Amino acid sequence: MRSLFRDESKLDINYTPRHLQHRDFQLELMSQYFRHALETPGKMTQRVIVTGKVGTGKTVLTQHFGQKITREAQRRSIPLRYIHVNCRQNKGSFFLVLQRIVTEFHPTFPKRGYSAEELLQVLMQILDEQDAYLLITLDELEPLIENEGSDPLYKLTRIAESHPKEPGRLSLICILRELRWLNKLDASTRSTLQSNILTLDDYTQKQLQDILNDRIPLAFRADVVPEETVMLTSELGEEEGGNARYAIELLWRAGKYADAEKSGEVTPEHVRKAVGSVYSTVRRDEIATLAPHEKLLLLALARRFQQTAAAHLSMGDAEESYRIVCEEFDEEPRGHTQLWKYVKRLSNLGVINATISTSGVRGKTTLIGLPRVPASDLENELTGFLKPEAGRI
Ligand SMILES: Nc1ncnc2c1ncn2[C@@H]1O[C@H](COP(=O)(O)OP(=O)(O)O)[C@@H](O)[C@H]1O
Ligand SMILES: [Mg+2]
Repeated sequence: MRSLFRDESKLDINYTPRHLQHRDFQLELMSQYFRHALETPGKMTQRVIVTGKVGTGKTVLTQHFGQKITREAQRRSIPLRYIHVNCRQNKGSFFLVLQRIVTEFHPTFPKRGYSAEELLQVLMQILDEQDAYLLITLDELEPLIENEGSDPLYKLTRIAESHPKEPGRLSLICILRELRWLNKLDASTRSTLQSNILTLDDYTQKQLQDILNDRIPLAFRADVVPEETVMLTSELGEEEGGNARYAIELLWRAGKYADAEKSGEVTPEHVRKAVGSVYSTVRRDEIATLAPHEKLLLLALARRFQQTAAAHLSMGDAEESYRIVCEEFDEEPRGHTQLWKYVKRLSNLGVINATISTSGVRGKTTLIGLPRVPASDLENELTGFLKPEAGRI
């Protein structure tokens, strides 16, 4: 039996689609923000924040924009480079991020012997020598802020101003899932960053359907993915927060199930079978960006759920387990109000669900459920992130 796939790499997370669906307006807005980079290069630098939930196309949108603006610059003979760096993959280290950027210009640049500060100087020197402009996208910026605070962004945004007579060479796009990370920056860095914010809304079911239908002919053989399958996958993607990544991965796994069963097509039943297994990979990087105490709370919940057959935990139970976990990690537990905020956020992210119960003798209480992921998987996932590494959780 032949595989139903024509080329499954087209559903891979690292594949960049040729066309973007439903993001014309946002691409145009980016072009507007960076218009002067093409019209009056060097006169002024720009900073834009792109924000949106996981799977709303932040990475793919900025990459497309990067290609678009470099093409246009080339047409006008403007030496503009676009470099896309993922801060999480570079361990949230400014040094590694800068090293990545410098080696784009000089692949053999020595890996040792320079500080972050010096690398930044080297970079500016290269740009001056080549009389070039650079647009950097800092993707998944959260770990860089978490590790190094305001410093990297402060330096990157100020570098132009420290040489007032020289042309502005460095522009920035910052990608954040949530704008609340900006609160961790000092006021002046924050204010230079937050003037241009582009928010990517969750995809609707219909939009996800279009995204899938665009990808299916590249990934699958003709007529093996019926429209009902696309409907179900896009519905589940919408429920998952308008998450295109989820929808695409779900379809890929459904295809794998169909192949394993030697089926002639990918059916809705294959999608349903795939649902359970997609969750953990999609959630992994979501968990990575949680604040330390949100991770501790989630770990506490994961452990408690393994000890109980109940479907829900009370807020009191949650707090108690959280305090035990804090003790283990030698962390000062946060107060009730703060915990409440964590519960709300985790619930907004869909990792847990929180409902108010009005039954029971003590009146209202919050009930916490873990709807989708096995508690043991969640615990394993979290322990990976919470290894007390260099005194930091
Ligand atoms: N508008 C779109 N058109 C086509 N594919 C898209 C679109 N938006 C997202 N995708 C695809 O969905 C997946 C998730 O997008 P990504 O840019 O990684 O999201 P984010 O960075 O916001 O988490 C990727 O495989 C991407 O190619
Ligand atoms: Mg991304």
